[in-house]
Order: sequence, then C-alpha cells, then structure tokens
Amino acid sequence: MLIDSITLTITLELQGLTESFDRGIEMCGIFGCILKDGIAAPKIHAALKRLEYRGYDSVGEATVKNRRLFVKKDAGKIDEVHSIRNLDDLPGRIGVGHTRWATHGAPLQVNAHPHFDCSDPPRIAVIHNGIIENFAEIKKELEDIGHTFRSKTDTEVIAHLIEQNLKNSELNPETVTSELENAVMDAARRLEGSYAIAVITAHEPDKIICARNESPLVLGVADNAYYFASDIPAFLPLTNKVVFVENGELVTLNDEGFEIRKLVDGSKVVREPELVDWTPAMAEKQGYQHFMLKEIHEQPRCLRDTLRLQDKYLELLTTFLDRAREVIMVACGTSYHACLAASYMFSKLSFLATHPVIASEFTEQHGKSVNIDSTILAVSQSGETADTLAAVETARQRAATILGLTNIVGSTLTRVSRVYIGQQSGPEIGVAATKTFTSQLSVLSQLAIRLAKKRGKVSQEEIDLLDEKIEKIPGIVKTIVETQERKMKALARKYKDKQCFFFLGRGISYATALEGRLKLMEIAYVPSVAFPAGESKHGPISLIERGFPVIFICPPDETRKTLMGNIMEMKARGASIIAVCEEGDEEIMKLADDYVEITKGIPEVLSPIPYAVPLQLFAYYMAIERECDPDMPRNLAKSVTVK
Ligand code: AGP
Repeated sequence: MLIDSITLTITLELQGLTESFDRGIEMCGIFGCILKDGIAAPKIHAALKRLEYRGYDSVGEATVKNRRLFVKKDAGKIDEVHSIRNLDDLPGRIGVGHTRWATHGAPLQVNAHPHFDCSDPPRIAVIHNGIIENFAEIKKELEDIGHTFRSKTDTEVIAHLIEQNLKNSELNPETVTSELENAVMDAARRLEGSYAIAVITAHEPDKIICARNESPLVLGVADNAYYFASDIPAFLPLTNKVVFVENGELVTLNDEGFEIRKLVDGSKVVREPELVDWTPAMAEKQGYQHFMLKEIHEQPRCLRDTLRLQDKYLELLTTFLDRAREVIMVACGTSYHACLAASYMFSKLSFLATHPVIASEFTEQHGKSVNIDSTILAVSQSGETADTLAAVETARQRAATILGLTNIVGSTLTRVSRVYIGQQSGPEIGVAATKTFTSQLSVLSQLAIRLAKKRGKVSQEEIDLLDEKIEKIPGIVKTIVETQERKMKALARKYKDKQCFFFLGRGISYATALEGRLKLMEIAYVPSVAFPAGESKHGPISLIERGFPVIFICPPDETRKTLMGNIMEMKARGASIIAVCEEGDEEIMKLADDYVEITKGIPEVLSPIPYAVPLQLFAYYMAIERECDPDMPRNLAKSVTVK
C-alpha cells in the first residue's frame, strides 16, 4: 500500500473535520485495463490525461499484483500529482484510474478515488462516476454493523457494501461466475442514482468488475488488452474496437475477454464490438496549443462531413418533423443555442412552429402538457447530458416521439431516440463546444431546408440558393478562420481588461449572441449578458457607460435597419461598439469602433454558422490574454452527467 497515510491523517486533523459533508456530485473520467503483459500504470496515467477534460481537481490510480493493491491518489491536476507521486510507478498489469470533478466539498486527497473497504491495507478499490443518492442510508446501515469510513464521499459506500456482500456471499453459479461478481451485482442492485463503477480486489486479482446506470461506460477491445472508460478518446490510441455498455449492465473483464450480464437477473448479454472510425490523431492536439483552437480550425472539415450525412436519416427525421403536431427542442448550453437558432430556421423556411426549451426546465414547463402528439427533438453533442436525458424520459413516459441529434453514436441519447442523426464532428475534447455547435447548426439547417422543400412554403429559387450556399459554408468558415484569427487576437488584447460585455443581435442572431456570450463566460470568466437587441432599451441599457464593450451580430438581414438604431442608442451613451458584419458593410463599419468582416451573401438562416466563429476566436484569445486554460475552464466539465 503506497498511499501516504501519515499525510492523510494530518490533513484530516488540520482540516479539523470541518469539511462540509461531501455529498459528492461527481462528473469524472474513469479508465482501467487488463494487459496480457506489461505494466498498467503508465497506460492508466496516459488515459487519464486524455480524459482530463471530464474533471481535473484530483486523481488516483490502483493496481493489483500478487494479491496486493497498490494505490496512488491526491488532490490537484494530473501533471501536478504526477510530478510528486509518479503515477507511472505502480506494479501490475491490471489497474484502474480516476480523474475527478467535484462540486460539494473541497477536492482533498481523502476524497480522491479510488475508495476502499475497511481493511488496512485495503483489499477492495472502487472508482466511480456519478451520484449515489441513497448513500447516507447505506452508510448508516454499514456503520451500525461496524464499518469505518475514511472519506466523506458517496462512492466509499460501494466499497464497504461489496466488502459486506463478500462476507455474506452465497454463490449462485446460474447468474454469476465468482463471489466478487456476485458481491458487486448485489451492491449495484442497492444503489440508487447514477453510476459507472469499476472494482479491483486482492480477493480476485485477475479481473475488473464494472457496472453502469446512467453514467457513460464503454469497453475497448485490443489483441493484447481489454479496457473500460467513460469516453472513447481514453483508449482510442490503443484500439478503435468499442463495446457500448447499457444501463443496468455488469461487465467482467479478465484475460479471456469481457462478459456482460444484466443486473436485474444476471442473464448474459452478447454484444459484438463496433469499429469507431475515429483516429487517435483526432483526439490529439496536432501542434495546436489547445484542443479548443484545434477544434475551431477543424470546423471546415466537420461542416463538410455534415453535408455527407446519410440522406435516409435526414429524410426520416424531416418526415417526423413534417407530421408532428407539436415540436419541442430540448437541450442545454450551446446545444440549446443551436435549437433556438433552428426555431427561426423552421419557422422562416417551412412555417413550422417549434419550441426551443432549456432541458432543465422542460419537466416544469411542459411535463404536464407533453403527450402522444408531441415530437421531441433532443440535441446533445455528448448524448449523455443528464438534464436533456431527463427531459426526454419525461416525454417518453407520456408517449411523445423522440428524435435525436448527437455527436456520439452509441451514447444514451441514440438509444432512447426513435430516429437520431450522428453529426460526425469527431471527438471534441475542449470543454467549450465549438465545432459541434456549427455542425449542429448545419444539420438543423439541412432539416429546415428539406422541410421547406416538402412543404413548398418558399420559392424553388430560394431553395436552390440555400442548397448552393450551404455547400459553400465550409469554405467560408475556412476563410473566416484564416483571415480573422489575427484580428480577434488583437481585439482580445485591446479588450482584455473589460469587466463585462454585452452581446446583442436580432432575430436568429440572438442565438449567435447567446453563444458568443457563453463562450466568453465559460473560458475567460468575463461576466457577460446577451439579449435581443430590441430588449436593451427596456432595462439593460442602464449599464452602459463610456467604453462599455457591446458586441453586435449584424448580418445584412431584415433586422439590419432596426439593429442600426440599437447600435446608435448604445453609441450615444459612449459604448465601444464591436460589430460582426458582412464584408464591405460600410454603414455598420463606420458606426463601429472595431469590426469583423464575414464573407458576403450568406442567407440569414445560415448566418449563425459563420458569424459564431469570430466569437469563438475572441473568447479563446481573451482566455489566453487573461491566462485562463481554454481547454479546462474552472468548475466545468465536458459532459454534465448529473441533473
Ligand atoms: C458549451 O461550451 C458547454 N460545454 C456546455 O454548455 C454544453 O453545451 C452543455 O453542457 C450541453 O452539452 P451537450 O451538447 O453534450 O448536451
């Protein structure tokens, strides 16, 4: 046992146990492997680095060799902990690792994973991503029969539950092949909440047992090893043969391979690996300083790929929308902004009224009215966002039709959707969504154009123009990235000390403004407000004073005239105007203190795609100027798997 127990005890005493009870809402990265030969620790360390975007406030590894567990864990980012503890230096070819993202309770070594049973040195190590909602009652039960707990996490109850089950285990060869499998299965059946767990023990040192409910879990199959992880990029450089684990399943990994069983009755599940057409390079930085900048530059390729999606699914989804009595689009964050933009597209091109709803408000807002005539279009790049999945579940229980748009084929959203589209943007590692946003917009606009063709609400001429223009969007975005990056860098340098920004737009550009605002807030931590420009004189304009930066999204559409009026209102009160406008739009450029030019002739309904790109670059360079980490912004994680 390599854990530094002395430091642990001192830390606890120092903290004087004042630490608030760490209910441990966790959104983390988990990984583990069974190697035919070799040392597991360096592979675990490298995989955790590839998962760091999921959580980065503490890290831990456990391996097993000669029926002994070896553990290293501590608070801090992976590189910091590695520099002190050397995360590559643990013996054994079997092991697990965890990188954590916590909300309740400071990230302390004692709360870092893995967590253990009572024995010292421990014989059971558990890592977990998710929330155990009934942990307090289980903990009390176990403490009443003598278990002692080291940490304040919910996760630790799992280790003690398994320990207790092993003590009382009666093996039923019908449903399990080992005591440990039996003990983990019984433990998992007691857990309420979301979890992806992995267990290694000194008892049965030749296997890893995993179980899943809601939190994501995938397996990687290679010729000389078996892997599990929260996300495919974790083992992508090692294999692209993937097995998706479903809710309510238990997996046993050993030298022979993997075995899946249903938690409910222990029955076996046969599932073949699928080949994922992602290359390891796609999950690496390729010379860019940050994943976010790489992903901004990848947008032309991703947009081209969205134009090659399978016609039959686009047509099927269009048919469902065409027949729908009521269309509600549910999503969170950036994906919600794509839905908001789509609501303008569907209305303007196909006269289809749709309701974009922030997923965490869906049940309150529509929980009682959604019904069999409702069609839900759920949009989520990860396909695992708990709020979006909860909204879908509410609607499903009321017989609504579920349609999905996601970037992760095999994610939970794809399994609960009647029809879904995989947008093919490749892995997005940067926490701030960029390429997946513009790809979502491209897919949604293609659906709106197809619906317009089906409904014949707009002229063939306009349809032909849209078809021609959408083909040009990848090239236009390429030009914008190449020609405007330097300008955005300079603007960031000029405005880096500003304490607050307004983002304003009218019509569909309100969605673009919201996205620009979210990017600046989430990676550069600059308080920012976005609202429809027409709303400013109903209150927000009171904040304007000399030099207050206001970013206007000004494509040359029907709103341009009134938007000019809003620009003048702000300018009259001393605001610094930054305009994202069409190249050669002299009128706007004259009014603006700074402007960014976007290629001419982009139809209004497609404008959020190119007009969002300079805002992504601005936020990125503001983060750089303010010395924030664009890839791993504080307090955030890539996939929000808790409600
Ligand atoms: C966007 O940059 C953020 N990472 C966040 O708002 C994100 O869009 C939101 O959590 C939704 O994620 P999803 O698309 O994976 O569902």
